[in-house]
Formats: sequence, structure tokens, C-alpha cells
Amino acid sequence: MNASARELAAHFDIEKLTSEFYADPYPTYRALREHEPVKLLPNGSWFLTRYDDLVGAYKNTKLFASDKKKEFSPKYGDSLLYQHHTTSLVFNDPPAHTRVRRLIMGALSPRAIAEMEPDLIALMDRLLETIAAKGSCELIGDFASAIPVQVIGNLLDVPMEEREPLRDWSLAILGALEPVIDAEVFARGNGAVKDFLAYLETLIARRRTKPGNPERDVLTRLIQGEDNGERLTERELLHNCIFLLNAGHETTTNLIGNGLVALSENPAEKKRLIENPGLIKTAVEEILRYESSNQLGNRMTTAQVELGGITLATGTPVTLCIGAANRDPAQFTNPEHLDIGRSPNRHLAFGTGAHQCAGMALARLEGAIAISRFLARFPDYALNAPPVRGGRVRFRGFSSVPCTVG
Ligand code: HEM
Repeated sequence: MNASARELAAHFDIEKLTSEFYADPYPTYRALREHEPVKLLPNGSWFLTRYDDLVGAYKNTKLFASDKKKEFSPKYGDSLLYQHHTTSLVFNDPPAHTRVRRLIMGALSPRAIAEMEPDLIALMDRLLETIAAKGSCELIGDFASAIPVQVIGNLLDVPMEEREPLRDWSLAILGALEPVIDAEVFARGNGAVKDFLAYLETLIARRRTKPGNPERDVLTRLIQGEDNGERLTERELLHNCIFLLNAGHETTTNLIGNGLVALSENPAEKKRLIENPGLIKTAVEEILRYESSNQLGNRMTTAQVELGGITLATGTPVTLCIGAANRDPAQFTNPEHLDIGRSPNRHLAFGTGAHQCAGMALARLEGAIAISRFLARFPDYALNAPPVRGGRVRFRGFSSVPCTVG
């Protein structure tokens, strides 16, 4: 095991991943953590897998920058994809980041999120009703992916009949963030930004003429800005609306899908949750840790950094492997085991520090309602064919999970 783990670590290359890796990346992550926790990849970037190293990088925005202009310029050229990703909150540093984040956090207030709960429950119950009538379901298409797109649609108050293209736009834009992309993925991502921008321009124009309630409607709040007169520029507004949809879409779909698959693969934990529904909050945290829907984060060093005796040069791209850190035995007891009551559980699924996920309260609420209501309604659900993986390294989830619902 040791020799092969050492080899696994030595040969790891994020640009040449195998089908075994996509099926189960954790043996590789473990090998890296144990043998090369600060790993130089063939493309000159570094790959970090230890929990403490990730926390250190996330908390030091001066040394580990999020701005991606330099990195994305050769990848996207002078394109709309470049404009989009470099204007998104997550790929900016203070002071621009601090100002835009304040405005977005103001719009995603705990009150705005709490007010969504009844709509969320009604939406999930409608989906469950349709599944019950069929007697079987494809967990991702019929349930997990149908939720976040409606939630963000509600958040920005996009009329129901205009929501259909949102999911494909989002998948295309996020697909272009994979470490290696071909011309087709690039063209699809770029086209999606173009169409999405055109749609948002009309939506925003309508909302300016007829504003909604800023306490509930995030788009109205983002348009109006804060009482102190702070506002997003038009470009920031457009691209961060796209970003909100993207940030909250595939990640939350994967939380729900990964959760229901992990529970069905761990029947004792599934039974424990059915018998103790009060454990849903710790269960959601554990699913986020165990099968983190967003597995990778990225930073760029702004000065020389010393990590475990290794020196990283100024201006080097660094990948923060959340999937590996969340199974680091130095932080979690028995980390390869799913324990829905785990406490404490200081996982990094939402990152930490200045960029910590701005939508985590919403994601937790969606995850808890979706998983608990699905389990309550279909306690005997069972996969009836092997689930199909999404085939992405950054966003870990399934594209299809056929199951019976009893
Ligand atoms: C399970 C679901 C989710 C996961 C796993 C997740 C994960 C993350 C992670 C890891 C980051 C930090 C990125 C970094 O530091 O580089 C992040 C940032 C962010 N997320 Fe989420 N997210 C989820 C759902 C959502 C939802 C539902 C929304 C909004 C509706 C959202 C909005 C954001 C925003 C705006 C940021 C950028 C924050 C900043 O840069 O200051 N996320 N998310």
C-alpha cells in the first residue's frame, strides 16, 4: 500500500486524471496528504491537501490572492467568459472584493433567506408528489437539480416561464472553469455568458421600472444598493447576478444528490437519520465534509511562501484541495467514515476566511429540507442502477441516479 500510495502521489497530474480518479479521488488525496502534501504539478502550479495548509491559505488574502486576471487571460483571451469570471466576487481581492461582498451579503440577509422556507417546502413537496405518482425517479433530474435553479429564480424573482435556460447557461459557464477545456467547452461557456447577459439586461430594466420589495427580492436590493449610497456598477451587477446563479446551482444540486447516494450506500446512517430526524443539521454538515460538492479552490501567491519546508515562488498558482482537507485525520477522527452526528465538524466545504461562501445559510437550508423531506416521504428509496458521475474534478456530483422509491 505504501509503495503504491507513494507512486500515486508522485504521478498525480491534475491535467491527466484517470477514470479511477473520477470514480473515487480519495485514495489519491490520501496518498498526496501523506507523501507530498505540498505537491508541484507538471504545469508549474502547487496542489495542497492538508487541512491546516488550506486554512492558512484561505485566511491570508494578502499572500494568497483570488484575483484571476493573470491566470484567465491566456485561458479565455479577450472574451465574455474572461469578463465574467474576472468580475465575479469570488475572483477578486480586497478592496474591490470587500465592497462588492458587503452589497451581496446585505442582499442575502438572514431575513431574506428565512422568508424563503415556506416556498422551498412547497417546491420540494410538489417535486415529491410527482415522483410518488411515477413510483421511481432519476434523483438528479427529477429532484436535486430542480431545486436550486428555482431557488435562485425566486431569489432574483425571475418569472417562472423564463427560467428554463438558466440551468444550461450555468452548467456551460461553470464547465469552462475545469482545469483543461477544449474549444467546444469554451465556445459553449462564452455563448452562455452572452445569452445570460442579454436576458439579465431586460430583467434588470424591467425591475428598475417596477422595483420589488428589497427585503425579499435580492435583485431589487442589488440594484438599489445600500442606504449609504454604495452601489454595484452595471457590469458588477450583471456579472454577479450570473455568478450567484452559478455559485448556488451545481454545488447545491451536488449536496442533495451526494447526500442521498451516500446515505443509501451507508444504510446504518440512513436508518439512524430516519429514526432521528433531529440529526438533519449535523447530517448535512457531514455530507458536505464527506463528499464536498466543490472539491477545489484556487489562489495565486503574491510573495514567496514557505510551506512545510518548501518554498513557493511569487506569482505561482495554488490549488486548495477541499476534498482532501475534509478527510485529513489530523482534523477529523475516522475521516473516511460517514457519521451523520459528527461534532465538531469544522469542514472546509464552504471555504473559510474573507471569501467564505456567501450563500451557505441558503445552501444548508435547501440541503436540510430536501434530504429530510425526501427521506420522510420515501424511506425505502433504493438505487436500481449504478449512479453516473458528473465527470468533473472541481464540482463533485452525479449526472444521473436512477432509483425506486418504494
Ligand atoms: C452546497 C452548496 C455550496 C457550496 C459547497 C459552496 C461552496 C463555496 C466555496 C468553497 C466558496 C469559496 C470560494 C473561495 O474562497 O475561493 C464559495 C463562495 C461563494 N458562494 Fe458558495 N457554495 C454553495 C452554495 C452557494 C449558494 C446557494 C450561493 C448563493 C445563492 C453561494 C454563493 C457564493 C458566493 C457569492 C461566494 C463568493 C464569496 C466571496 O468570494 O466572498 N454559494 N462557495
